[in-house]
Amino acid sequence: MSESKKENKAFSIIERRGIFYPAFDAYNASSGFYDYGAIGLRIMRGIEGAWRNIFIDEMGATEIQTTDIVPEIVLKASGHVSTFTDPVIGCKTCKSSFRADKLLEEYYDKKHDKEGLAALRKFDKKAMQAKITEYKIRCQRCGGELQGIEDVNLMFKTHLGHGTDNVAYLRPETAQGIFVDFKNLFRIYGLKLPAAIAQSGKAYRNEISPRQQLVRMREFHQMETEIFFDPADEQKRFNSIDLDALLSKEISFVYRGGKESTETLGALLKNGRIPNKLFALCVYMEAKLLDTIGIPKNVYRFREVEKEELPHYSKGNVDLEISTSYGWIEVSGNAYRTDWDLSQHAKLSGKEITVLSNGKKITPHVVEASIGLDRLLISLLDNAVQEGKDRGWEWLNLNESVAPYKYAVFPLQKDEKLESAAANLQARLSENRVASYYSVSGSIGKRYAKSDEIGVPYAITVDFQSLEDGTVTVRDRDTAKQARTKIGDVK
Ligand code: GAP
Repeated sequence: MSESKKENKAFSIIERRGIFYPAFDAYNASSGFYDYGAIGLRIMRGIEGAWRNIFIDEMGATEIQTTDIVPEIVLKASGHVSTFTDPVIGCKTCKSSFRADKLLEEYYDKKHDKEGLAALRKFDKKAMQAKITEYKIRCQRCGGELQGIEDVNLMFKTHLGHGTDNVAYLRPETAQGIFVDFKNLFRIYGLKLPAAIAQSGKAYRNEISPRQQLVRMREFHQMETEIFFDPADEQKRFNSIDLDALLSKEISFVYRGGKESTETLGALLKNGRIPNKLFALCVYMEAKLLDTIGIPKNVYRFREVEKEELPHYSKGNVDLEISTSYGWIEVSGNAYRTDWDLSQHAKLSGKEITVLSNGKKITPHVVEASIGLDRLLISLLDNAVQEGKDRGWEWLNLNESVAPYKYAVFPLQKDEKLESAAANLQARLSENRVASYYSVSGSIGKRYAKSDEIGVPYAITVDFQSLEDGTVTVRDRDTAKQARTKIGDVK
């Protein structure tokens, strides 16, 4: 069993129920790729649906879908061709490659060296090489000597057409499609600043050492929202949202250097940790998303990213982190991208990307909320696992918004009349678009265990009394208690 399997609390449920699993497993193909099974996909759609309710419907972002394959010029403009790199170190003996910063991170983690971890965020290549030599860190495959850190670009490269040198890449983030389309969308939809454009879709990075299942993948899913605004404006509202009303929201916050405290968004705005109210809106909405899908407040926090860690486009980042059995993982990056992307696309395309604001032509600035769906899903599962010692099986404490089904429907036993009544109930629920599943195989206890295991909130049993008085038992997953209810009241 690999390290990551042991570390993930939800691992046995994930494996047993095929929530997700390594892609192309039969061929022992490359790591970093995962397929989702039926249950995993339903949970994922639930999370994505909650994101859509909050960022699109409530906040009022315009959702679009842009292509996964991006011509090189676009990513030259965005800076990804020249700077989207990781520091990679090679083994002199077996030629394996590793991310230098991750080797050091593991080293400090094992030693529980918090200061080392904090210092690592500021290391350049030279400092990393010096520490790898000082700590005698060796190749994880063959024990050979590691040397020569190089910056390696993480994008997957391809060519458009055959026999051409027309280079393109799989998109490393969904955001660039939004930036390139911005001016047209602004005109077509008659948008006014501040305006948000969002998309949910795949991103691709040729990670040097994919690991920890969905935490570091080569193909993953992002849900990104870009808010365009005029930096000269005082931001008071965003669509129907009064921005000042959000500022009393308290969050757990980690300052640069590691000091952690509970702060209001207003205080963070005042002390400059959050650059403006629209950035505060991104953080507010992310906290709302976590509350909605049932991630407890005490397992998430926002962290001010060290200056040395900032992406090339950012003037300030605050990451959303969730505590998991892998440690704190970054689930979202909130960034103040300024006018970097729009100005760069204007420069390389030769087309003006300006809009009118207060009677003046301006290049809007951007704040971004970039959420990783797979990381959010694995964090949710990891935090939802209940040992279930009292009932004899592990189960997932998922709330209704993300549970794969609301109901499990069971005839008490194989019996034509019971099966027909249960099937009718399930058909009625399906017609009303209430997600449920039907099962008649195995003992009722085993069926309860199976529905608890995947986090189904209620299990309905149709028994012989149901045939007489039209009632069923409804078993609550969390308490394991049952109550009789009229079949017509199951909705
Ligand atoms: N547009 C900004 C951007 O892409 P990022 O911090 O590189 O920022 C945003 O990525 C989010 O995407 C991360 O917080 C994480 O949740 C997810 N993500 C990034 N790389 C990933 C990977 N290799 N595997 C899984 N999720 C990843």
